[in-house]
Amino acid sequence: MLNWNIRSHFPATTTPNFEEIFKSYQETLNSPDIGFFRLPQNKELLNETKNVYEKFKHKKYFIHVGIGGSALGPDMFLKALGSSKGVEFIFLNNIDPDDFHRQLSKIKISEALIYIVSKSGTTAETVAAMSILANKLNQAGIKEDQYKNYFVFCTDPVKGDLRKIGKEWNVETLSVPSNIGGRFSVLTPVGFLPMLFAGINPEKVLKGATELQAKLSGKTECVDFFKLASWLKDLHDQGIRQTVMMPYSSLLKEYSAWFVQLWAESLGKEGKGMTPIPAYGATDQHSQMQLFMEGPEDKTIFLIEVEKFQYDFDLKNSISGESFKTLSSFKLGTLMKAEFEGTLAALGENKRHVVHLKVPAVNEESLGQLVLFSECLTVLMGQLLRVDPFNQPGVEAGKKYAYAWLKSHS
Ligand code: PA5
Repeated sequence: MLNWNIRSHFPATTTPNFEEIFKSYQETLNSPDIGFFRLPQNKELLNETKNVYEKFKHKKYFIHVGIGGSALGPDMFLKALGSSKGVEFIFLNNIDPDDFHRQLSKIKISEALIYIVSKSGTTAETVAAMSILANKLNQAGIKEDQYKNYFVFCTDPVKGDLRKIGKEWNVETLSVPSNIGGRFSVLTPVGFLPMLFAGINPEKVLKGATELQAKLSGKTECVDFFKLASWLKDLHDQGIRQTVMMPYSSLLKEYSAWFVQLWAESLGKEGKGMTPIPAYGATDQHSQMQLFMEGPEDKTIFLIEVEKFQYDFDLKNSISGESFKTLSSFKLGTLMKAEFEGTLAALGENKRHVVHLKVPAVNEESLGQLVLFSECLTVLMGQLLRVDPFNQPGVEAGKKYAYAWLKSHS
């Protein structure tokens, strides 16, 4: 099970107004307007997604179209757990024409399932990608009355252009429940459909998340969790306003990217928030670590240790040279462990603020736990910082101005 430890000279104390904060945190988790915490118990969403998967499972390519919360979660699962069913994945999560060319020129559109994910159903980047893909289908001789064999949509249950078009085209349209926002949506059909195509078991993901629920919400069980959040809030108030997320795992690199969006978009408001910095070990020891170690003391550094790798490699060798000889009696996983422990000790010596997270392995269960842990921590931090973690007024304003710019140039 995922666990965490604070390593810092800055004291972590029990939340001063624990009763009050706990009450409002509980109300948030149980609010009918906020659904993410109860997703592990929602079997209906998974069953609906499985039905759609059965219909399209023969497809050779899976094109995932979406941006922000509609793409980062699925990408994280795919990169962490891989694709074992031979389906080739394409993520169109930007509007770079050169990237579109590169990705689309290597596939046959008639053998693809195109998954359009947009909670609002109106996001410019996603609408643009969908238009291009519809044109591609037309060029391949596939007309609108056949789109239902190529597109699947995932959007708000009632609102938005996508819901409307889904009806017009008779396209399978899965739902992101109305009480779930984009960055909290990976444990819904947004993430489930790509998981099924990749051979990732969503049930195990939900099981992992369920196992952690008590530690994040039970009054006695979550004392440590509250301690962590209060400590982060105290550091924030002392001007320590950067959060490094650094798993010691290449497979969890996109977990950092997913966390960055969750943390930044949820908490960066009203002059508050902590700038998230994605990193991964051991690679970034040869890049950003110098800054983390000796730069300004304005960071909290989350280091994630993976206890057991699925595979390992012997470093035994007969190559001459001291460095080769030193490593010869170890395995690659042991070297990773040594580098992790070394960094942990050195950061401590340099009086840096570290959270040591530990997962038993990179698998469905631990990913489910990392997701729920991060979401709950974000929500609790929102409460401590007194900002609404579920809105993104800054992003909305940018979208509005971009549309206005387009209209004025049409
Ligand atoms: O977390 C969020 O709400 C955002 O990052 C959205 O996911 C992103 O803006 C995309 O929006 P939509 O899913 O409506 O296309």
